Amino acid sequence: MRLLNASGCLDALTAPEVARSLDAFVTKTVTPLPREGNAPTRIAETEAGMLNAIGLANPGIERFVDTMLPMLRRLEVPLWVSVGGFAAAEYASLCEVLDDHSSIEALELNVSCPNVDEAPQSAAQIVRQARVATRKPLFAKLSPAVPDIAEVARAAEAAGADGLSLVNTVRGLAIDEQTLRPKLARGAGGYSGPALKPIALAAVYACYSATRIPIVAMGGIVCGRDALEFVAAGATHVALGTVLFADPDAPVRIRGEFAGELAAHGFASADDARGVAHEGGSTLVGHAQHARATIR
Ligand SMILES: Cc1cc2nc3c(=O)[nH]c(=O)nc-3n(C[C@H](O)[C@H](O)[C@H](O)COP(=O)(O)O)c2cc1C
Repeated sequence: MRLLNASGCLDALTAPEVARSLDAFVTKTVTPLPREGNAPTRIAETEAGMLNAIGLANPGIERFVDTMLPMLRRLEVPLWVSVGGFAAAEYASLCEVLDDHSSIEALELNVSCPNVDEAPQSAAQIVRQARVATRKPLFAKLSPAVPDIAEVARAAEAAGADGLSLVNTVRGLAIDEQTLRPKLARGAGGYSGPALKPIALAAVYACYSATRIPIVAMGGIVCGRDALEFVAAGATHVALGTVLFADPDAPVRIRGEFAGELAAHGFASADDARGVAHEGGSTLVGHAQHARATIR
């Protein structure tokens, strides 16, 4: 099992030590053109999680490649780049540009950003076009806010995805106590943190049964026990998001806690725990072997 950050939840250039404590660093989503993002207020806390409406603020692919990529490379942490756009052709052109860069280990397709049509066909279409544009491993990052995420996952796998990143945020709204207006300038935003965990677990559980590709799980992971639950549901790797804003030491802490949890449950390794939440989980050997073979 590898420990990653969730896209948009860690600035590796301002916190290089945190990035180095991960097994791979995932960038914030990069789009073809620079984006300012939404007007503030863009982040709000709620009782059980966090709301954000950053709006994919990023420097755009040209500046990313020219200035950020060389700096990220110097961190000497395996690098995953998250890409996003508003049409399948935009994803493909981003993948084509990044394909030339040997420092990038994998690409994550953010097919779950709010302005992209999330119909299964659309996610599959994005993956299919991106697949033609790059030889790098492609992870499709899905939204849990669909009627049947397993169907979306199967379509992404069939279109050539090498893995799934599960899940992106769900839409939520917080009301200011005094003004009774939405706390975020944009109104609703993406809801993340502990409240997302059962939703994310359900997504991982469903997609593990539906596909044979590795799953990077995220959604409210704050401790080693959470990580173990996601692995039991079928995750190959786990990623930390909202927890990093409160606890930059979370990767080191969670890694230690996870090792303790494995030992306490009598598992020799994360591979042994993968999928055990499923009926006959230990007999789902085909999936586990396949997942191990396709990801380092
Ligand atoms: C402030 C913030 C910014 C985010 N930006 C992105 C992004 O650029 N691309 C993306 O795919 N997901 C983005 N996400 C979603 C996270 O990567 C992750 O899927 C989600 O927060 C669930 O994990 P968590 O509950 O551990 O935070 C963002 C989340 C937050 C809180």
